Amino acid sequence: MKFFLDSAKTDEIKTALAMWNIDGITSNPRHVRNSGKPFLVVIKEIARMIEGTDKTLSVEVNPHHAHADAMIEEGARLAAMSQNFVIKLPATEAGFKALWCLSERKIPVNLTLVFSAAQALQAARLGAKYCSVFVGWKEANGEEVSHLVGEITRLYRNYDFKTQVLVAAIRNARQIVEAGIAGAEIVTAGFDVYKDAFDHPYTAKGLQLFADNWDATPYE
Ligand code: E4P
Repeated sequence: MKFFLDSAKTDEIKTALAMWNIDGITSNPRHVRNSGKPFLVVIKEIARMIEGTDKTLSVEVNPHHAHADAMIEEGARLAAMSQNFVIKLPATEAGFKALWCLSERKIPVNLTLVFSAAQALQAARLGAKYCSVFVGWKEANGEEVSHLVGEITRLYRNYDFKTQVLVAAIRNARQIVEAGIAGAEIVTAGFDVYKDAFDHPYTAKGLQLFADNWDATPYE
């Protein structure tokens, strides 16, 4: 199972690469804005951090594009900048068409803003590398999400689709585990979500207990 970092902040990415060996990075216009840097500046900076590795950075095209042609043009231009870029397209009518065209040109696509199994099936049929299912947003909307990821992974296996299920908008450790149990290849989560997920209060408590006993015991 792969862990991607959902961020465009280079200090977070640097730490997550060095400390956790994260497998890739996902960005979106909100993350880029939060980085405080211009779009092209920050994606090129991240590209340099993962150059020569098989780690990917998902880069989203301008969300104002209403037509596939504009998405294709921008997607191809961005993909030419780095071998590590995966082009993020929305699960809209134009986005699906652009996905199909870019996939035919062997440009990898992350189909984003996916909220249903039918959208995920179409993403796979048209050749997406990743299919980003936003579980956190669905939950926040009061929707039941426990079956969705399992349904998508089963559908993909039924037809031997190569598209990887990327469970996105992860908010806590339990959702990471549930995505894995459901068979998802990848989760993407924010820096603080991983920090909390890799920690447990009993670990610190247990370490203190062992340290106290260590101090009360002669070494030789
Ligand atoms: C996924 O690739 C998205 O960038 C992400 O998960 C969006 O959701 P969030 O920013 O609300 O977590």
